[in-house]
Order: sequence, then C-alpha cells, then structure tokens
Amino acid sequence: MSQLVDLNQEDELRRIDTIGMFAALDGLPGQCARACRELVEKVQLPEIKAISNIVVTGLGGSAIGGDLLRVYAAGQISVPITVNRDYVLPKFVGPDTLVFAVSYSGNTEETLSAYSEARNRGASVVAITTGGKLGEAAKKDSFPVIEIPGGISPRSATGYLFIPTLKVLNRLGLLSDVTEELDEMIDLIGNMRAKLGPAVMEAENPAKQIARKLQGRIPVIWGSAGTTEVVAQRWKGQINENAKSPAYWNVLPELNHNEIVGLEFPPEILKKIHIIILRDERDHPRVQKRIEITKEVIQNAVDGYTEVRATGSGVLARLYSLIYTGDFASVYLAALNGVDPGPVKVIDLLKKELQNR
Ligand code: F6R
Repeated sequence: MSQLVDLNQEDELRRIDTIGMFAALDGLPGQCARACRELVEKVQLPEIKAISNIVVTGLGGSAIGGDLLRVYAAGQISVPITVNRDYVLPKFVGPDTLVFAVSYSGNTEETLSAYSEARNRGASVVAITTGGKLGEAAKKDSFPVIEIPGGISPRSATGYLFIPTLKVLNRLGLLSDVTEELDEMIDLIGNMRAKLGPAVMEAENPAKQIARKLQGRIPVIWGSAGTTEVVAQRWKGQINENAKSPAYWNVLPELNHNEIVGLEFPPEILKKIHIIILRDERDHPRVQKRIEITKEVIQNAVDGYTEVRATGSGVLARLYSLIYTGDFASVYLAALNGVDPGPVKVIDLLKKELQNR
C-alpha cells in the first residue's frame, strides 16, 4: 500500500489504520486512569524484603515503561533502577533485587529467559502482562501478576505497562503517592487529544505539522539527560513501528561531544535529516544554553530542526505531553508514507522464524 493520504481527510486517515492506532491513542487517557485506579489495587503483593536495586526487563513497547520509570524515579528513589533488554540479567541481580518482568503478549523469548534467571537467582518478581507464557509461569511460581487488558498493540499500552510499576513501588513504600501527578497527566493528555486528533486540520494540528516536516526526511530526535531522553527514544521507536521509517535518537549533553562533529559528510544525506529537539524547562540550565549554541551549529548542516516543548507542571504530565505529541505525529507520518501504522510484520516474522530455529 502506498497511496497519498490527505491529512485533512479524517476518513482517509482512519481507512489506512486497519487495527485502530487512532482509537488506541484516543483511549490513552482512559487507559492511564484505569492503570492508576484499578489494575494494581486487586493484586496481592507479598512481603518484599529490603530492596537494593530494581530491574525492569522487557523489550520494545514493553521496555519503554522501564525507562520512563528510571527517569521519573531517579530523583526520588535511593536505589538504582536498570532497564534490561536482553535474555540475561546483570550479575548484580539477586535476592535483594525487585524485578518487573514486562511483556504485553507474555511470549517474548528474551523476557521469558530473563524472568527465569530472576526466579533462579531468588529475586522478587512482579510480572506485568496480558497473560501468555509469562503470566502462566509467574502464577505457577507464586509471583504477583498484574494482568492488563489485551486487544491493542504493546506500544499503544504504555499506560498499562508503566503506571503499575509506579503503583507497586508506592505500595512497597519505595515511592511517594503519584495519584495527583497522574491525575494531572491524564487531564492534560485528555485536553491534548482534542487538539492533536485526526479531525483537527493540519493548519491547527501540531502533530500533523511535525509529520509534514518529517515527510521524506530522516528523523533524528534529541532529548536531554534526565528529562526528555526517554521521550527521544520513544519517538524513535514510534516512528520506526508506526511510520515504517528509520529514525535515530541521542541525548544532550553527550551529543555535544561527538554527534555534532559528524554533520559534515555525506552532505547529500545530511540534507535529508530533520532534527527534533525536545525541550523541557527542567532541562539543566547549562544544557539549555548548549541547545541554543547547538542550533546555530547545525542549522546549515541538515534539512532543519523543530523544537517541541513539554507542557504541564508535574514530571509525568511533561513527559506524556511530549510522548503523546510524538505518538500522534508518528501515525500521521505513516499516513504521509501511505502505510498502515498498525501492523509490524517484520517483528512478527522475526518472532515466528525464531520459533522454528
Ligand atoms: C509492538 C511493539 C513491540 C513489542 C516487542 C515485545 O507494538 O511495540 O516493540 O513490544 O516486540 O513484545 P511484548 O511487548 O509482547 O513483550
């Protein structure tokens, strides 16, 4: 499929969206509210001994919630949080580790392998899944299972996959209550939905305008350490999976020490790069100055850059304001590419092929 889609024709946008990515975006505020109020309350958490470190193990759409947790909780929790996207766990994982094993399908082999390692090393495990083999194994091993609703794609389920980790840490006394912050975030994205949705014309719709800038370009997303870095990674993944385009991400200040030097050759390819700079007023003041200088350095090297600013007051609202904008933009970019945003045939093929080898 590759036919031109008019971003101002809602029916055309919905026609190419065969598995309901727009519906899932529309449902995100409700999903977050449900994750905040219902999913964890009914789960019995065992007495968990002293925790020295926390690991979130998962892949793709199921792992990004781990990074959200890592960034969100870094300033609040005194134990380290590591995100593990691998078959094996780091050596430090043991009886004093809390492991969140996260897989939307419950059948991702890397996560199943890491889960088994966590259990064998005596870690305290909490599984977050719709079911699958992970749900079965965790129940059999008497670990708490947070069962989340199925029927959407894993990458559309960040509310279900991420928010329970906050709630569990709060119940274990490791994190203060996040309900107020979550409420602000849910209200904010509820309001944003009316401005970013498919019915809103391109002239008034910032997400459609971002997609237009990325059309025919190689998106490079820059975030800042400790604030928007996780959003940059999320945008990259969403552009890959929804728009079926390459995308790359990096983080300030680190990219000031290498990536900006590499914007000379080959000029014809560099002119195809469009940089998205994610901004947050909480970015380190020196990083904010760095961004201003960096913009001057890059402006003639690449196609151009677009700054996207976080809104809201709490950290969660600010993170999600950027995530929600990027999620919509990636689906509009799929439309501009004339491609169905939902199916991820290559991931499905890879998983299927691996089953036979
Ligand atoms: C698909 C998606 C993928 C999956 C990944 C792991 O929408 O986002 O990145 O999340 O392949 O699968 P699960 O989440 O089922 O463990």
